[in-house]
Amino acid sequence: MTQDELKLAVAKAAVEYILPKLEKDTIVGVGSGSTANLFIDELAKHKQLFDGTVASSEASAERLRKHGVTVYDLNSVNKIAIYIDGADESNEFLHLIKGGGAALTREKIVTACSDEFICIADQSKLVDVLGDFPLPIEVIPMARSYVARELVKLGGDPVYREGVVTDNGNHILDVYNLKIVNPVALEAAINAIVGVVTNGLFAARPADVLLLATQDGIKTLT
Ligand code: 5RP
Repeated sequence: MTQDELKLAVAKAAVEYILPKLEKDTIVGVGSGSTANLFIDELAKHKQLFDGTVASSEASAERLRKHGVTVYDLNSVNKIAIYIDGADESNEFLHLIKGGGAALTREKIVTACSDEFICIADQSKLVDVLGDFPLPIEVIPMARSYVARELVKLGGDPVYREGVVTDNGNHILDVYNLKIVNPVALEAAINAIVGVVTNGLFAARPADVLLLATQDGIKTLT
């Protein structure tokens, strides 16, 4: 199977995984990116089974609405039962790097509000040590150069993702050449830099389940 076929397979598997959990009042958190887009298309086929969604990006919200799926503002929702989203990398502990699509801050907020976070990915995303994928950092625009200098002190090589403005009006630095052996500590250290909105490490709150599409079928990691 190609990578795109694997993404579709895991999107379908995610819908099968959550179907028994869906009730009339369930709110589903929906992530961003190409795998999440395929999930949206599959989820929409069952829109009568649940109340609605909260989306982690404007792009996902628009795709959901095009399918006729209700999208709520997070502030009007008490509880998100399940959050489904892709990742750029995962280790065996389900610590993730996310933010390749620049939606990391809203993704982290929706994760924090969700009872269960199910990550969906193809097998290329599972790594021994996080960091081959450059770590995205969302920064307040005026702090970009300062934050970049602080990231160099932490051993990384930050690169400004030119031309990209996040849904929150901020900028992205992609940090290269990090071998992230302690994701929980690095997540906290980077978030402590003034001017950082958040970083793409999801380690303090990792995924609860990783559905991984492989050539041998869907694997469930917990
Ligand atoms: C967006 C993300 C995505 O989940 C991540 O980039 C994976 O994307 P894809 O499913 O297209 O490989 O974190 O900010």
